[in-house]
Amino acid sequence: MAYDLIALLKSGVTPLYLAPQAGVSESPFRRLCRRFGADILVSEFVSAAGIVQNSKRSRDYLRFDEAERPIGIQIFGADPVLMGDAAAFVAEVFSPDFIDINFGCPVKKVVKRNGGSGCLRDLDLVEAIIRSVDDATRLTTTVKIRSGFTENTRDPVGIGLRCEQAGAQAICLHPRTRSDMYSGQARWSEIAALVEALEIPVVGNGDIRNGEDARRMRDETGCAAIMIARGSHGDPWIFKQARAALDGLPISSAPDVVERFGICLEHARNAIDFEANPDRAIIDFRKHLGWYTKGLPDGRSLRTELFQTTSLQEVEMLLETYRKEHLDGLRI
Ligand SMILES: Cc1cc2nc3c(=O)[nH]c(=O)nc-3n(C[C@H](O)[C@H](O)[C@H](O)COP(=O)(O)O)c2cc1C
Repeated sequence: MAYDLIALLKSGVTPLYLAPQAGVSESPFRRLCRRFGADILVSEFVSAAGIVQNSKRSRDYLRFDEAERPIGIQIFGADPVLMGDAAAFVAEVFSPDFIDINFGCPVKKVVKRNGGSGCLRDLDLVEAIIRSVDDATRLTTTVKIRSGFTENTRDPVGIGLRCEQAGAQAICLHPRTRSDMYSGQARWSEIAALVEALEIPVVGNGDIRNGEDARRMRDETGCAAIMIARGSHGDPWIFKQARAALDGLPISSAPDVVERFGICLEHARNAIDFEANPDRAIIDFRKHLGWYTKGLPDGRSLRTELFQTTSLQEVEMLLETYRKEHLDGLRI
């Protein structure tokens, strides 16, 4: 079933997005976040060139499960024709609910070739990319931007207006510039200004660390939806807490450590099932192990051991030993 993303964004329920995140928002994590209440999912960014070449790596990034709908595929690149071709390929072969264009990635390797936030230095190029992608498919086209490339060229409203004019049907703002990378605070006032200036729905993103932050962002900015990235690391239940806060309901406390370990292992099993190579999968999963065990008493030594594991069985054993040594009879 195809979803009408824009109707959902305009419904007034303030849907919650799991943010596109390279190396993090893969299908197993997306499904876990959905279980905790992420309403809209987005793939990690995928290179238009890789898609058009039909590289195996890109195909792996593009895979999703029907249960993940509504889902968007995010693409990046600086060549409007290639971006249009990539969008057409994705629509034809994978049929997501929407295509999202990445104008936010600050990573040097991407920016050097004018991809991601690199495009923000040339708003004619931004417009040309949006038009090309939007013309290439019948799917909804959305964009994700930063506030500008540098502080001097910071102009989220100006950029947003150009995106809207070019045919973007929704826009997500992470209100930092490329130069900011992740430093300082996301300027939510810029999200509010974008909501004020644009007709299309605006998705707010940046520094949501708990349910209460989500409520505050909605109330302070009037955004149509909220996108969460780092706040979900080792903490997928943030979506449940954010939903409760948005609905004015009591926010449930985070799962205790035993439950958290259970969620971590469920996530690990899904990640291993999803990957063709289980050894690779467990190595890639180490970052999640770090996040799930953050803040635990003696967590550092647990993490040192977890980071050396090469199989799910070892992970299970380490968590079980930790539970017995630290938690039996306790609920943290
Ligand atoms: C590990 C990681 C990978 C990311 N990869 C992407 C990506 O592929 N595409 C994208 O648009 N943004 C990406 N981002 C940026 C996030 O989507 C989001 O805009 C940013 O982290 C701010 O939100 P937060 O404060 O909730 O983390 C990434 C962020 C992180 C931490």
